[in-house]
Amino acid sequence: MSRLRAEGLTLGYDQRAVVSDLDVNVLDGRVTAIVGANACGKSTLLRGLARLLPPRAGTVYLDDRPVTALSTLDVAKVLGLLPQSPVAPDGITVADLVSRGRYPHQGWFRRWTGDDHDAVTRALDATGTAALIDRPIRQLSGGQRQRVWVAMALAQETDLLLLDEPTTFLDIAHQVELLRLLRRLNAESGKTIVVVLHDLNLACRFCDHVIAMADGRIVAEGPPTEVVTAELVEKVFGLTCVVVPDPVAGTPMVVPAAD
Ligand SMILES: Nc1ncnc2c1ncn2[C@@H]1O[C@H](COP(=O)(O)OP(=O)(O)OP(=O)(O)O)[C@@H](O)[C@H]1O
Ligand SMILES: [Mg+2]
Repeated sequence: MSRLRAEGLTLGYDQRAVVSDLDVNVLDGRVTAIVGANACGKSTLLRGLARLLPPRAGTVYLDDRPVTALSTLDVAKVLGLLPQSPVAPDGITVADLVSRGRYPHQGWFRRWTGDDHDAVTRALDATGTAALIDRPIRQLSGGQRQRVWVAMALAQETDLLLLDEPTTFLDIAHQVELLRLLRRLNAESGKTIVVVLHDLNLACRFCDHVIAMADGRIVAEGPPTEVVTAELVEKVFGLTCVVVPDPVAGTPMVVPAAD
C-alpha cells in the first residue's frame, strides 16, 4: 500500500465537483508526473492530497490514516506541497521565506537549530538561490522566484513532495536542472515526488510514472512509454501528433502533426 493514496475521492468548489470518484496510489519512492489539459483538476487533486481541500466524498490516506484525522503540523512533517501560484507575505526576503520551510520541524518555542540551518543551506544551494538570500521576493524575476519557492519546499525535508508546475517560469536549462535535482533527491533519499508538468517530453524523460487526467478523472497511468501515445495525446489534449523516441533517452517525445 502506498503511503499516500486516495479512494473514491471527490473534490470541488461550491456546487461543482472538479475531481470525481478518483482512486490513486502515489507510488512510494518514485517520481510521478501528473499531466492533463488546463482546468482538468490537477491542482485541485494536489490540494486534496495535501489536505488543503476537504473531500466531498472519499478519503485521502497518509500512512494509513485519513488525512482529515491528522493535524496540519503532522501532515507538514511528512508531506510538502508547493502550490501553483504561492503568495509570499509582503516584504519578505528570500532567507526568511526559505526558513519558513522549517516551521513544521521546530518545537513549541520555534527554536532555530543547526539542523534547520543546514537544511536551508542545502535547499538554497540545490536550487542555485544562495546568492539571492537578502533580496525581497517581490523584486525577483519569475524564474528566480519560482526557484526560491522550490527551495522552501525542499527545506521542509519531507518524505513526500508534491510540486504543482514548478517549471512554468523557468528557462529550458533551469527546467532540466530542476528535474535533474528532483531525480537526484529521489535517488539519494528515496523521496516520493509528484510533479504537475505541462511539458510531456520532460515528464517522460524524467519521471517513472505518468498519471494522465481529463475532466477530473484519471484516464491512463503507468510508465511513460506505455501511457504517452498519440492516441492518449489526442484524447487528453485534442492534439494530433506523432510520438517518436527521444533521441537521447529513448523516452516518448511528442511532435505535433503538420497543420
Ligand atoms: N478556488 C476555486 N474556486 C472555484 N473554482 C475553482 C477554484 N480553483 C479551481 N477552480 C475550478 O476548478 C477547475 C479545475 O481547476 P484546477 O486548478 O484544478 O485545474 P488544473 O488542471 O490545475 O489546470 P491548469 O493546468 O490550468 O493549472 C477549473 O474549472 C477551475 O476554474
Ligand atoms: Mg493547475
